Amino acid sequence: MSWEMVDDGWGRKAVEFATVTEPAACREYVAVHQLLGLAAGDRLLDMACGSGLALELAAIRGAVCAGIDASPRLVVVARDRSPEADIRVGDMNTLPWPDASFDVVTSFRGIWGTTPTAVQEAHRVLAPGGRLAITIWGNVGKSPGAWAMGPVLWAKDEQVQHQADMVALGRPGVGEAFLAERGFDVAERVEIPFVFEFADPATYARGLAATGPAYEAIQSVGEDQFLARANELAVEHVRDGLPLRCPIQLFCYVGTKR
Ligand SMILES: C[S@@+](CC[C@H](N)C(=O)[O-])C[C@H]1O[C@@H](n2cnc3c(N)ncnc32)[C@H](O)[C@@H]1O
Repeated sequence: MSWEMVDDGWGRKAVEFATVTEPAACREYVAVHQLLGLAAGDRLLDMACGSGLALELAAIRGAVCAGIDASPRLVVVARDRSPEADIRVGDMNTLPWPDASFDVVTSFRGIWGTTPTAVQEAHRVLAPGGRLAITIWGNVGKSPGAWAMGPVLWAKDEQVQHQADMVALGRPGVGEAFLAERGFDVAERVEIPFVFEFADPATYARGLAATGPAYEAIQSVGEDQFLARANELAVEHVRDGLPLRCPIQLFCYVGTKR
């Protein structure tokens, strides 16, 4: 799939994604910035920045922020949130910045086993000694919130297989080797908190439907069916007086440019 088509799935509900789905990731963003010791003046690039909440939080720590995402409709939201940041629409496999432009590159569930060129590009734009931090799903199936990801499996078999190939980086040793082979000294991976949290089943169904993998399922089963079935799935997990809470295992890999 060409990068220009990414917006079909990721951008079609950009405002829903930014306000209903993305806030769940705030724990992840804060934890990774803290792990990196992100400091005032650090030149930071967020690859596959989506609607840019991570950039907004990095700027609060004083980082000088840039971002790139393939979805023009998500980038509009990211720019609205961070007008001072240099946020571009583009392909993370051909970054539009010169060599050694950044001290830190992050990518939150944006770089996968299927995107080795993006890691080479991250290496190129980092200054010597600069750091790359990427987050990758761990064992989703064994996570307490696994049920919440179930509907993405309603996509066609080849799309589900592609999703599996993407997340293969989360297996022990695989992510470390992937970065080490591309010029990074890699630290031991760190488990990072990630919790999808929604007010109720209907909000969960809407939030999930705003993601790219869910769009692949929607193309298979239809939007009405997707929303109805996702809603039904979530009803079983409602707890009186509490949000729907779905922790998913996530790891952060940090590599330092040799
Ligand atoms: C799982 S989302 C993560 C988004 C964001 N990092 C976050 O935490 O919400 C994956 C993102 O990758 C973007 N993406 C997919 N392929 C891309 C490419 N080739 N270049 C740039 N961005 C891409 C999508 O538009 C989407 O925003």
